[in-house]
Amino acid sequence: MNCVLGIDLGTSAVKILLINQTGEVVKEVSKSYPLVHSKPGWSEQDPEEWVQKTIEGISEITADFKEVSKIQGMSFSGQMHGLVLLGENNEVLRNAILWNDVRTTSQCRNIEDKVGKEKLLEITKNPALEGFTLPKLLWVKENETELYEQAHKFVLPKDYLRYRLTNQLHAEYSDAAGTLLLDIAKKEWSSEIAQIMGIDLSLCPDLVESAALVGTITEETAQLTGLAESTKVFAGGADNACGAIGAGILKDGLTMCSIGTSGVVLSYEASSDKEFGGKVHYFNHGKEDSFYTMGVTLSAGHSLTWFRETFAVDHSFDELLEEAKSVPPGANGLLFTPYLSGERTPHADADIRASFIGMSTSHQQKDFTRSVLEGITFSLNESIEIFRSEGKNINKIISIGGAAKSPVWLQMQADIFDAEVIRLSSEQGPGMGAAMLAALGCGWFQSLEDCAEEFLRESAVYQPVTEHAAQYKEIFSIYKKVYDQTRDLNKALASLRSAGTNS
Ligand code: XUL
Repeated sequence: MNCVLGIDLGTSAVKILLINQTGEVVKEVSKSYPLVHSKPGWSEQDPEEWVQKTIEGISEITADFKEVSKIQGMSFSGQMHGLVLLGENNEVLRNAILWNDVRTTSQCRNIEDKVGKEKLLEITKNPALEGFTLPKLLWVKENETELYEQAHKFVLPKDYLRYRLTNQLHAEYSDAAGTLLLDIAKKEWSSEIAQIMGIDLSLCPDLVESAALVGTITEETAQLTGLAESTKVFAGGADNACGAIGAGILKDGLTMCSIGTSGVVLSYEASSDKEFGGKVHYFNHGKEDSFYTMGVTLSAGHSLTWFRETFAVDHSFDELLEEAKSVPPGANGLLFTPYLSGERTPHADADIRASFIGMSTSHQQKDFTRSVLEGITFSLNESIEIFRSEGKNINKIISIGGAAKSPVWLQMQADIFDAEVIRLSSEQGPGMGAAMLAALGCGWFQSLEDCAEEFLRESAVYQPVTEHAAQYKEIFSIYKKVYDQTRDLNKALASLRSAGTNS
């Protein structure tokens, strides 16, 4: 049977899915790469790692799957916002600065001052946030001026990866939307913002649609990966746009919760003209001429990974989750806020840091694990609360990402969100969405909706338990107070953070 590859260039690993025409995952490979945190708040990666690990991963797939000419196409999903700066010959000029890097607060204030908050919202539909690409570009311009002067183009992470496999350089709308340089409604780079901020528009690559064919792989890529040279390559999308495609969020009224390194609550929008005043992100979807809004928890899965690596390295994730199941809702009075690297929604604050509140001598490791899971989910519930307060009816949520593998966490989501939570037969949202874009591009389907009909199946439904939902409502009202009450403390501590530590 014919197949496509869905390549999800994540923050901790590249995940590659081989999917057949019925949407079945034939093979799955994951290859991890490190993050570079050379200063507090900095987060970088070497783009060469992305390329090499992707080639390794595809080679493992083709080693098992001999009929490579049946792999007709591939497409990409990628961690958003990262700045990859390229020189005259498209060589990488410095490490990529990633979405979770928060060094750019002063550049954000500068953008707000010069462009004006209102105009920024009017054009980009978003406020200036540290994670977005334009502030990173301005940071390099101010702090690494010589290097900036050598820059010929900037690209987003998965667009660089695609370039290396095809020799074709493009951006696509869903990821370009996260740069703060795109006019979201007009679908063009904003010459106005570029001019005000002193950015040469020639730095921006040509824009295409997510399902656009950009070419085939190069002869060299074919040799390195074992794929056929005729393999078609489609542009792909931002990981959250692809996650939404892979979760079937393709029409009004549908909402998704995705927990990877970051966590998002995302809602489909048919048009770009709704007003959320910048409270949630508003981006172009990977489905042509549609949009989505979302709230972002910066350290979602990352909080659990951090907790395990720091305090429970002898436990697997499955063991931690199993133990947390035996702890009652509320973690015996322990409360966690997941602000390990600052926060985005609802508190855009690069200085805030995480807290455990209510620790006592009776608490055991499993209480801490449960409070970490609850804290992450409370944070996502703050985004759901924003959507509900804007009039959205959220009573059913498709859950994807790592958390969707765990029945304990899925039930917790249903109880905290007080909504029905759906698990799909594949929780691989972004990689699946990328594969669906390739399937559409290869002409297997007339539309993403038709593809979703064939590929996506609900596998479990979690209903909120009334008693737990009521308990969580009470705890959530306490959770919401922690931000305000720890903000000034964290501002004071921020100045004490020593250089060279990872904070
Ligand atoms: C979204 C965001 C993250 C990254 C993670 O705005 O910054 O969700 O896309 O890969």
